Amino acid sequence: MKRDEVHGNLEGIRDTIIDRLAALYDYQVDETAFLPRELMEFLAAVTGVIRREIAVYITRDGEIVNVSVGTDRDVELQDYRLRRNAQRLSCVRCVHTHPNGDGTLSDVDLSALRSFRYDAMVAVGCLNGQPTLVQASFLGANEQVILSDLVRWNRLPEQKWLEQIEESDRIIGREQKELDLGPEKCVLMGIESMESLEELARLAETAGAVVVGSFLQKKEKADGALFIGRGRAEELSRQCQALEADMCIFDEELSGIQVRNLEDLLRVKVVDRTTLILDIFAQRASTAEGKLQVELAQLEYQSARLIGEGLVLSRLAGGIGTRGPGESKLEMNRRRIRNRVTDLKRRLEEVERQRDIQRKNRERNEIPVAALVGYTNAGKSTLLNRMTGSDVYVHDQLFATLDSVARRVEEPDAPPFLLVDTVGFIRKLPHTLVNAFHATLEEALRADVLVLVNDGASPELHQQHETVEQVLAELGATTQPRVEVINKCDLLNGEHPLPGAVEVSALTGENLEGLRQAIRKAMGQTQVTVSFHVPYSAYHVMAPIRASGRLLEETHTDSGTCIRLSMTPQDRDRLISQIGAEYVMKQNG
Ligand code: GTP
Repeated sequence: MKRDEVHGNLEGIRDTIIDRLAALYDYQVDETAFLPRELMEFLAAVTGVIRREIAVYITRDGEIVNVSVGTDRDVELQDYRLRRNAQRLSCVRCVHTHPNGDGTLSDVDLSALRSFRYDAMVAVGCLNGQPTLVQASFLGANEQVILSDLVRWNRLPEQKWLEQIEESDRIIGREQKELDLGPEKCVLMGIESMESLEELARLAETAGAVVVGSFLQKKEKADGALFIGRGRAEELSRQCQALEADMCIFDEELSGIQVRNLEDLLRVKVVDRTTLILDIFAQRASTAEGKLQVELAQLEYQSARLIGEGLVLSRLAGGIGTRGPGESKLEMNRRRIRNRVTDLKRRLEEVERQRDIQRKNRERNEIPVAALVGYTNAGKSTLLNRMTGSDVYVHDQLFATLDSVARRVEEPDAPPFLLVDTVGFIRKLPHTLVNAFHATLEEALRADVLVLVNDGASPELHQQHETVEQVLAELGATTQPRVEVINKCDLLNGEHPLPGAVEVSALTGENLEGLRQAIRKAMGQTQVTVSFHVPYSAYHVMAPIRASGRLLEETHTDSGTCIRLSMTPQDRDRLISQIGAEYVMKQNG
């Protein structure tokens, strides 16, 4: 039992009661409930027995992170923050009991709300072991307190208090942005190559930092403790100070110990390339699924870097600033991380199941799919917008698109197809990220045709192409027909960086027709034409034949029906194993 985790005035309280309070740490509040009925009843019952105030602190994930006992008139309120930014909401709500039966919040309660930036401050009046009236308060604009009515305890489910927390968070976040002291200044430390370092600079800018210096250190022998040699690290420390940097970003993955040692020596925040990429993903995630995937990737990456057992993430969480789905995870121990990871995986499975259903529907509707894949910033989203007339976020930033987006390409005299935009690839793409995004990517990669979009204007084109090939191979997407595209041809002067590729400009619209034709042609490659002759005596096989493909021709002769269809090789094989090969007259493709 974790009896020592129950804080405050425990004198004279029976062990069995303390044990019951300690068990709250294992209680999970349903994330859709502000304050569940059973929790209120429990708190009121214990308050009735001990006649003292009890306070519990609940995170947005529904975990109880602190349980404290006070006197009959007050309980010492804790400064419990899960965010580094002290002005933002703490991501924790404080619920405490009033043993005198009155649920009205006191001035002290409201001032704690302001100082400790709770998501909400709540008082539950308790009398004779039963909850009575409840009042909640929230922070609003300009430090104003938003006070709810006194509500009967059993009417809580009707209150929109969780929505109010979100609203308060938005307001205070906005106010903070306005007050922001400007972007963080960072120094980059490259190990591999100048190109990789330049890309790191783009990543840092995308994440909202300003690069004030960058250094390349050809790596000789790795120093286990500091990653770079001690002498170089000391020099870097002086450089960081001279440049007034807030942060140093390494172009490689660092271990937890290396981060700690480097931070001690450099006296600035240290971030590695993977954390930076995860941070950008956290900023970009917009769909529920994207957020779950990023949070999973962040937790898995961070938990592999925990040092010891304690409350450790505070040092590691968040890359630039603190943001994203992972930002409220500052003080999680291994047990909590494990629980959360299991929970995230379960939720992702559910989303994946849903998507499977959607894909099956789509397959049933027989719309072929082409997926745009390529290095980040190659112009995939611009191309999607151009070809489908849609409005996907396009920006000269890395990873502008995170979630795969599908749109229909319609033309008057050709069958429609779906075009799917996918997350951009990058060298040293963090593995946890590839795993977390596997489902999203896989869906796109199960497309009938892969359209590899290359940035024709990038001097790094061949290296980027290589990276894309590697990631595709890693994801097992090697068999589909491909269309190679050189985008941004408006910036090329007659060179042909990738022979055989279709040259287009998503910006000016040049040669998009050529690309559409190439995609359609590649899709044709995935179809075969099969002719059957079915004698009238075997008419039962007509139904499965018709259901297996698109009808091209059907004629009736004296001896039976001749039917010609276009279908995928898989459907053909399935059909033949079902009805036998004797009805097949001819096939090609
Ligand atoms: P990620 O979301 O990072 O994977 O990027 P993306 O591949 O979707 O690239 P996006 O469409 O966001 O375009 C990146 C930048 O390239 C934007 O500034 C576009 O305006 C620019 N761009 C895209 N296509 C062209 C083109 O044909 N010519 C020129 N000159 N610029 C282009």
